Amino acid sequence: MSKKAWGGRFDEDMDAAALAFSESVSFDQRLAPQDIRGSIAHARMLGERGILSADDVQKIVQGLEEIRGEIERGEFEWDPTKEDVHMNVESALTARIGDAGARLHTGRSRNDQVGTDMRLWTREACQATAARIDRLLCVLAVRAGDGVDVLMPGYTHLQRAQPVRLAHHLLAYCEMLERDRGRLLDAARRMNLSPLGCGALAGTTFDLDREATARALGFDGVTRNSLDSVGDRDFLVEAVAALANCAIHLSRMGEELVLWSSQEFGFVQMSDAFTTGSSMMPQKKNPDMAELVRGKSGRVVGDLVTLMVMLKGLPLTYNRDMQEDKPPVFDAFDTVDACLDVMAGSLAGARFDAERMREALVRGFLDATEVADYLSAKGEPFRSAHHVAGRLVRLAHDQGKTLPELTLDEMRAESKAFDQDIYQALDMETAVERRKLVGGPARARVQVEIDALRSRLEERGLDVAAIARQLGADAK
Ligand code: ARG
Repeated sequence: MSKKAWGGRFDEDMDAAALAFSESVSFDQRLAPQDIRGSIAHARMLGERGILSADDVQKIVQGLEEIRGEIERGEFEWDPTKEDVHMNVESALTARIGDAGARLHTGRSRNDQVGTDMRLWTREACQATAARIDRLLCVLAVRAGDGVDVLMPGYTHLQRAQPVRLAHHLLAYCEMLERDRGRLLDAARRMNLSPLGCGALAGTTFDLDREATARALGFDGVTRNSLDSVGDRDFLVEAVAALANCAIHLSRMGEELVLWSSQEFGFVQMSDAFTTGSSMMPQKKNPDMAELVRGKSGRVVGDLVTLMVMLKGLPLTYNRDMQEDKPPVFDAFDTVDACLDVMAGSLAGARFDAERMREALVRGFLDATEVADYLSAKGEPFRSAHHVAGRLVRLAHDQGKTLPELTLDEMRAESKAFDQDIYQALDMETAVERRKLVGGPARARVQVEIDALRSRLEERGLDVAAIARQLGADAK
């Protein structure tokens, strides 16, 4: 930092290593659009309050708009000796318009300024990520619609457990993603208060109109405590925690795509556009995108940990440590956004193999619960019904048979309650259809959920079919 930048207190320039170590402009220049919007709102308010002349305000606004244009066109020269985005923009402004530029910072500190910028940036990022989640939901809604009649094994402990519908399985992820979306928007709503006017930590002696700058920047109101406003970053923790949750959900989807596209499962074929080959083994078609979605989740969890550890133990209020909030926040959003897009494309182009899923229902005694429920419905206490079913599984297993391949006599040897209708109960379609409570996999239930999801998406302005079609075409 040159002597001039810090003014009267300093004689010596900053050490080169210290400067390189402490500059943030290399990453916080991403905040330039928010920084300029904030400065324009602040300048206009200073004008309204008679703190700046109308002429100064006009020069400031015009100068900032020119700088914004330069930045957008990539013509602006970022100077690391000016530390951060705020100082870079302000000194460019002063170089351009003189004293008026030097008056912009009246009643403001970089501490409330950076708090404002980060709230604006993160609020918008939360909304943009929520919109990306919606696009993935569109794909899932359509794929679920295609998969209503496809039966597959549901798993616990990765063991075949009970039959479900493919649609039901896909809708499970929709539930998770809709919660992720809700958490992001909730965080965006809570952070949407303006810290401008809180100054460095203790407000300002100037008679600012905090409500006016808040309104101009689309905030719902102003923060209530100046120390808190410049001294906390919990709003970032909230947003990144929501992202970490989302990344974990996407990672589990990724894991299932990896598993399902293996020859062992064979439940899905990924499109060429979202797989890669091997440099050595010509037969390979690797689900790299799904693997990377799984792999990248670790980064987002790391970003959350970075933020929380950065904050832990900081005395009030602002501390320079807080400059370290930006890389993890940007990285978490960039990573989750990329994962959402890749997952939407992967699923849009994936081909589910209904035959293989069907076949997987035959072996594994997924109908054993039906036997227990059948006996229990006939008056057998559930625990002993469970026991009888277990003995029949063992009998069938020992003879290399499925349960429906046992004779009625073999079953009646275990319980007199068995009748011919047990064979109907063992049918997989019947087993799924009988699970018709809210939240269950029966066809009508699943269809209601698909329709409800589609209406929610359409109410949010999304053309579900068009988005899924487009992504599907891109994925080919
Ligand atoms: N670059 C700083 C940051 O991101 C801006 C605020 C600096 N404030 C200060 N008093 N040094 O946190």
